[in-house]
Amino acid sequence: MNIFVLTGAGVSAESGLGTFRDKDGLWTRFDPMKLATPEAFAQNPDEVHAFYNMRRQNLLAAEPNAAHRALAHMETALAERGGSLFLCTQNIDDLHERAGSQRVAHMHGELLKARCTACGETMPWLKDLSVEVPCPSCRRSGGLRPHVVWFGEMPLEMDALYDALLAADLFVAIGTSGSVYPAAGFVTEAQGHGIRTCEINLDPSDNARQFDDARYGPASATVPTWVEQVLTT
Ligand code: OAD
Repeated sequence: MNIFVLTGAGVSAESGLGTFRDKDGLWTRFDPMKLATPEAFAQNPDEVHAFYNMRRQNLLAAEPNAAHRALAHMETALAERGGSLFLCTQNIDDLHERAGSQRVAHMHGELLKARCTACGETMPWLKDLSVEVPCPSCRRSGGLRPHVVWFGEMPLEMDALYDALLAADLFVAIGTSGSVYPAAGFVTEAQGHGIRTCEINLDPSDNARQFDDARYGPASATVPTWVEQVLTT
């Protein structure tokens, strides 16, 4: 079986990273238009850097949870049976990789990478960023930014994502509210091509009615149970 999994902030919530649109979510406490757009970065880079420096420090203190580990196990187990798991995440954290997933498509970028807007180089980045930090590649200051996708920018790897989605037998969305496109449209795309769909979330998401199946509860419990069931049938 070939499974395409899309994860969102809910899969990392129990690792302490929080979500965006829940009661205490990031976009409930902070204005995304002032922190997650190219215009905000151009107008107030210090504020944008401070926001991502805080998130980077939180990420470095976080650990993967049972949901990340179950998906890493599923990738190996399906491959051993001649199938595949394509893991696409909207999350900018690296918890899937730290849990053991080999191939993760980060459609919204990666918090532990920086990109230089002057020379285009992308590099691993664990420290705080600021406008004073020179690019290690071109030595110019002021051009380094978090390697993340902001509102108004194109998500990454879209062609590869649609190819993998349409090659799947099953599309599963885990821990995402289904409110940000293009990821929110994957369920429609899958259904249009006769691919079964399943949602695993704490509660029904915005587009819950579009899914064929659903499982509700915390990801650390629902995902391992679902993985076990898929691998034993
Ligand atoms: P949201 O905050 O919009 O949605 C998180 C979903 O996870 C909600 O439906 C919650 O009910 C669910 N959830 C919360 N805790 C959970 C748990 N323990 N187990 C399972 N589910 C849980 O986050 P995303 O859908 O990931 O983009 O947001 C999508 C994009 O919006 C993000 O990638 C980010 C944001 O703006 C950018 O910054 C470009």
